[in-house]
Amino acid sequence: MQTSKGARVWRIHEQAGALLEVAQCLRAGGLVAFPTETVYGLGVHAGCPEAVARLFEAKRRPTDNPLIVHVATADAARALVREVHPVETALMQAFWPGPLTLVLSAQAGVVCPAVMAHTQRVGVRVPDHPIARAILEAVGVPIAAPSANVSGRPSPTTAAHVLDDLAEHIDGVVDGGAVPVGIESTVVVVDKGVVTILRHGAVTAERIAAVAPIENDPRPNAPLSPGVRHAHYAPRGTMCVVEGCTERVQQYIQQRLREDRACGYRTAVLAYASGASAYEADIVMCLAPCGRISVAAQSLYASLRACDDARIERVYAEACPRIGLGEALMDRLVRAASHRCVRV
Ligand code: TXA
Ligand code: MG
Repeated sequence: MQTSKGARVWRIHEQAGALLEVAQCLRAGGLVAFPTETVYGLGVHAGCPEAVARLFEAKRRPTDNPLIVHVATADAARALVREVHPVETALMQAFWPGPLTLVLSAQAGVVCPAVMAHTQRVGVRVPDHPIARAILEAVGVPIAAPSANVSGRPSPTTAAHVLDDLAEHIDGVVDGGAVPVGIESTVVVVDKGVVTILRHGAVTAERIAAVAPIENDPRPNAPLSPGVRHAHYAPRGTMCVVEGCTERVQQYIQQRLREDRACGYRTAVLAYASGASAYEADIVMCLAPCGRISVAAQSLYASLRACDDARIERVYAEACPRIGLGEALMDRLVRAASHRCVRV
């Protein structure tokens, strides 16, 4: 199938030969989006400078923000890097395949310098999604794959999200339905045997701490992933995260909604656990009706995109507990809100 804007849509389990076509397209320097367990990635041959340049352009991504390289096995990851510390081996064994990205010193001449934003360190992961794994095995070369959204937009969790952002700029997308996790991988670096989290994500700090020593209180100026510095995930409307006890959070948001509606703004609430009836807004989306953070993670980005589809101008989000996956969810909410947070 081909969309009106030129991008192909493959369903590799239904179309004979589709996997081969996807692999050939990637090997030839094409841009192909595919599902991983976290979000859809926009894949490109990590050793092909022209293709990598086209990817940065398609995503309108700042060139100082390196890309994660995806490979099928831990052995393929080792082939990209100079050395692997025993703590890094322990992390690979515990979390691969899965949503953990390790930043390691790169072997010269394997991955294009632009993929690493000229840092000589490469972020690597082995994804845990049957389609991603099938593609990586079939293509046989390392694939750089940032989230398949235009930079700054919410990450895509369906093929339709990818096409909304990028249909004119990519060769195609492999449609594997909605992704299971909905929030990106955790990015870590190991220094002198101690793990620092550069970006919170789907593997929680608690799970990492069960495997390796972890820097629990990184210095305020600790080097973060470059991507964490950029504006990200934002809906087009102005968003605010509200933290505090449920009753006060609800009262505060209701008051703000009344003011906004009096000014004629279209409003939305991303409730965490409050029911839809708690608010009078144009749309109210309850992220975790059952109170489970993993369920909220699955629908977060689709909910932010739904605000744009409904031309919402003011978005209020209830904070969630900063435990487990809640740390990553709050990181995304706060950045989507460009750090507009109030505690009530
Ligand atoms: O789950 C994920 O990580 C998804 C899927 C597609 O794998 N990918 C993803 O890629 O979220 P992206 O490009 O949207 O975010 C990658 C993050 C950025 O914050 C980037 O700065 C960081 O990883 N990163 C990548 N390589 C790095 C490196 N060499 N050093 C430091 N940070 C790195
Ligand atoms: Mg991204």
